[in-house]
Amino acid sequence: MASQVLLVFLASVFVKAVCGASLMYPRVIPTPPTLPPHFSASFVETFSGKIVNKNNGTWYYDYGNKRARFDHGEGQMNNFCGGQGLSPKDPKAPCSLIFSPEGNMYVLYRESMTCCLLCGTEQGCTILRPDWIKKDSKLLYVEKINGDECYGYGKKGAVTTYDVLYSDVSGYMCRYHEVVAGITHNLTFNKDSFNWGPQPDYLFDVPKWCNRICPHPYTPPPQH
Ligand SMILES: *[C@@H]1O[C@H](CO)[C@@H](O)[C@H](O)[C@H]1NC(C)=O
Ligand SMILES: *[C@@H]1O[C@H](CO)[C@@H](O)[C@H](O)[C@H]1NC(C)=O
Repeated sequence: MASQVLLVFLASVFVKAVCGASLMYPRVIPTPPTLPPHFSASFVETFSGKIVNKNNGTWYYDYGNKRARFDHGEGQMNNFCGGQGLSPKDPKAPCSLIFSPEGNMYVLYRESMTCCLLCGTEQGCTILRPDWIKKDSKLLYVEKINGDECYGYGKKGAVTTYDVLYSDVSGYMCRYHEVVAGITHNLTFNKDSFNWGPQPDYLFDVPKWCNRICPHPYTPPPQH
């Protein structure tokens, strides 16, 4: 590893000497990132195509303790949140998806204090593995996102054409991107919002009143 870095450094010095100041930095293509064991980050979520929508949100990820929480803010159209009748007056109200260490996934509308159990490990509702994009992915796109050069590694998803995770050279996630049935879905992360610290327990608490199974529990797509 050290010798690789040194080689790149020497090569960049050489290139700079030859080409002058126009080359600003060595182009090291990063490998697909492994998610850190715990972090949080906010994002802007967009849908475009047959559906056009925009909202904010936050990821809280704590793989070390086998728990995660994905918050989809005001105006959200998350397909796990809607469709359970939890917030009939305003299905687009803020909604949290919580993965508990027991392997359960809950849908929670905090404002209306309604919640239900959507699925468990038997339905494949387990927390995203830190290495999910590392395995079998390939570099599909290089794109400037919010001013950063981001490398999009992707692979075919269970229901998507492609799942793509864009990260910059230092491993910051820039964007998660998927296309499902002609609808482009992006989570574009706010770089300033990353918090790599341990995530506090209360974030992942499932309220006591969250005690029923969803009217339309999640079932995995059929395997081919
Ligand atoms: C999303 O967050 C930005 C920045 O904090 C804010 O200006 C914007 O109003 C928010 N959008 C929605 C739909 O809440
Ligand atoms: C979604 O992400 C793709 C891939 O990075 C990009 O081409 C597209 O412009 C993005 N759409 C929006 C609305 O941000």
